[in-house]
Amino acid sequence: MMHIIPNLLSKEQVCQVRQALEQADWTDGRVSAGHQALKAKHNLQLDQDHPVSRQIGDFILERLGGNPRFMATALPLKVFPPRFNRYQGGGHYGNHIDSAVLSVPGTPHRVRGDISATLFLCDPDQYDGGELIIEDTYGSHSVKLPAGDMVLYPGTSLHRVTPVTRGARLASFFWVQSLVREDSQRGILLNLDDAIQNLTLKLPDDPALAQLTGVYHNLLRQWSNT
Ligand code: NI
Repeated sequence: MMHIIPNLLSKEQVCQVRQALEQADWTDGRVSAGHQALKAKHNLQLDQDHPVSRQIGDFILERLGGNPRFMATALPLKVFPPRFNRYQGGGHYGNHIDSAVLSVPGTPHRVRGDISATLFLCDPDQYDGGELIIEDTYGSHSVKLPAGDMVLYPGTSLHRVTPVTRGARLASFFWVQSLVREDSQRGILLNLDDAIQNLTLKLPDDPALAQLTGVYHNLLRQWSNT
């Protein structure tokens, strides 16, 4: 399932992040593309060792940790350090599926890409094109979100970015290894979590609430890997 996480960054935070990114040096995205992706990828990326990349990446990680919607949806075990890309002048990225396992540069750590994430850093009226098209079992979705909003989608999805024909599209992208590998199981847990949150508001003292909360934790116990 595809999920939108609104307002991961405030408008003010987006401005600060964008200012820092505008001043950094960008390199051809193809240096980090795998063999198959090489032909498809036409964008610019910020080097992951760039101090700005690390600084803003850490800030995004902090915002993710404090976002209840992200935590409930992704059930994160590990998050790949956020990276940054820039599409302009017809830049695009053809259909591809992201790598399954990603090595965190400079460390022995690896992250399985259960979930792919794109955090939009420009508002839709600042550029033409640049839609993220995600194909899933329920068809094709075109995603172009306000700056500060993020989309999460299964790492198994075929996806592409359409050519940016005016302005520039800045975004952060990264992957999440979830406690729960299966997208369908995460979907069930999120549904149950939402129902429990609703009941907590309406019937806070009903014993069935404690029972349902127990079911949530027992399912998570069965389905999670740490
Ligand atoms: Ni991708």
